[in-house]
Amino acid sequence: MPSFPNFPDNCNSLLCKHLTPAIFEKLRNRKTPRGFTLMQAINSGIVNPDSSIGVYAGDKESYEVFSPLFDAVIKEYHGFDHEDMHQSNLDISALQATDLDPNNQYILSTRIRVGRNLDALPLGPGISELQRLDVEKQVSTALMQLDDDLKGEYYPLEGMSKKVQEQLIQDHFLFKEGDRFLEAAGLNREWPSGRGIFHNAAKSFLVWVNEEDQLRIISMQQGGDIKTVFERLVNAITTLEKSLHFSYTEHLGYITSCPTNLGTAMRASVHIKLPKLSQNMELFNTITTEHHLQIRGIHGEHSESEAGIFDISNRRRLGVTEVECVQDMHDGVAALIAAEEKL
Ligand code: ADP
Ligand code: ARG
Repeated sequence: MPSFPNFPDNCNSLLCKHLTPAIFEKLRNRKTPRGFTLMQAINSGIVNPDSSIGVYAGDKESYEVFSPLFDAVIKEYHGFDHEDMHQSNLDISALQATDLDPNNQYILSTRIRVGRNLDALPLGPGISELQRLDVEKQVSTALMQLDDDLKGEYYPLEGMSKKVQEQLIQDHFLFKEGDRFLEAAGLNREWPSGRGIFHNAAKSFLVWVNEEDQLRIISMQQGGDIKTVFERLVNAITTLEKSLHFSYTEHLGYITSCPTNLGTAMRASVHIKLPKLSQNMELFNTITTEHHLQIRGIHGEHSESEAGIFDISNRRRLGVTEVECVQDMHDGVAALIAAEEKL
């Protein structure tokens, strides 16, 4: 019989905050119809008390079966209630985007990604090795049918040389290996079996297979042309939707293994140099908070800034549309550049 986890006093994760003894008591013996347990859902936050969130879903049903915990986390992260409905909008013409950096002074590159998972199978934390290989097969088959600027090759991680893998990670194209949060969530089981990356020749369209989500669909390029990056991504998503059935509910939008990614599952970011503003972190933080932005380091989540370069992205993903996510990033980056120029 599982007992209440022993969280350290300085634990600030949403798991520590919202897993009350009463909720634990209510949920501790529950399992989803596919067999995913509460202890599996919270293991990452127990093993890593410095988590910001600390919970993962093993399947779509986890969000219902463990809803007293997940709802509280979702409410705090997204400000989204159990009764709320998500809305998707991939209409690129609705985006109000201007060229934010006409002289190429600040923005080094732009990237927009979405997470997706196949409706018929469990999410990564609850998937079996055979099911994961089935995902890889279905997804790589669909990807190999893409044409024009989306045309590319699938490269399985198994058999890839360490040198090539490291270079792809350094160049910001590939996921890292050995993340301790994913490890404790059961997302690294049987690594590297079933994992891989698809990309076109220009590496402006990429798909990560079987990392934190079954698919991470990515559009990226040098410079600050947000509209072109969004357009390429939307084209890829709508084409892939014709052959793959993604997990989606009216309430939570696109279903992802981490509750922070629910809804649009979208992170739109720029790599940007703001030498003056980054000397005034108070102002930097005020502007990013006002525009619902998140600051990450040069190698993504849990990394530090280097050479004054920051990764700035939308923080909101659920209860806002895809267009609004990109608009948040666009408007916030415009405000950051305006502040930099004033200093
Ligand atoms: P995710 O975006 O999938 O949530 P990470 O934060 O770990 O995951 O970022 C994944 C990779 O994408 C990292 O190498 C990161 O540096 C890179 N990246 C993110 N945004 C940009 C960008 N605008 N330009 C170039 N690389 C980027
Ligand atoms: N589980 C990690 C934590 O709680 C990451 C949470 C958000 N990031 C993510 N990649 N899902 O800190």
